[in-house]
Amino acid sequence: MMVSIRAARPADLEALTGLLKTLFGIEADFTFNEALQQQGLRLILADERSRLLVAEAEEVVVGMCSGQLTISTAEGGPALLVEDVVVGEEWRGRGIGRQLLEALASWARQHQVSRLQLLADRHNAPALDFYRHLGWQGTELICLRRHLDEVSPAT
Ligand SMILES: CC(C)(COP(=O)(O)OP(=O)(O)OC[C@H]1O[C@@H](n2cnc3c(N)ncnc32)[C@H](O)[C@@H]1OP(=O)(O)O)[C@@H](O)C(=O)NCCC(=O)NCCS
Repeated sequence: MMVSIRAARPADLEALTGLLKTLFGIEADFTFNEALQQQGLRLILADERSRLLVAEAEEVVVGMCSGQLTISTAEGGPALLVEDVVVGEEWRGRGIGRQLLEALASWARQHQVSRLQLLADRHNAPALDFYRHLGWQGTELICLRRHLDEVSPAT
């Protein structure tokens, strides 16, 4: 089975939204909303400081991940916020997640990124084991949020 990793295209949006539905079903802090997730994916696609990657097998999109450049004062340079890491259920355990993250790391290196960072659900043991296996380390940081009611996320 040949799997290729490539940049996402607008034609992939429907498949990618389907993958996000799977992912948001796992993560307690997120609720799937097709229109919002499509809008978010479109914004990432159009943003040159972001990268949206898909894994394709037999001409079907079977996995994805995204990365967004940020500037870290700790690093004194660019860092990458990694999000939307998911492989279709029946395609897991075949090296696709690893390939996606390696491709994202190569893109990050080309942008002088010295640190990748992501948020994961604390109860998602398989994902945490996957990341640790690939060399990711836990931190003492926690994630805090505040939503601004007056701003619609869709605009
Ligand atoms: C997490 C996820 C993206 C991993 O993708 P995957 O394609 O199944 O992972 P891979 O097959 O590429 O695994 C890469 C390596 O990690 C290891 N690994 C994967 N899952 C593991 C686990 N649960 N425990 C220990 N090691 C694991 C593999 O053995 C493999 O090792 P190797 O390359 O040294 O042989 C996938 O399982 C998934 O989509 N899960 C649901 C969504 C999710 O939780 N996403 C993370 C959100 S933060």
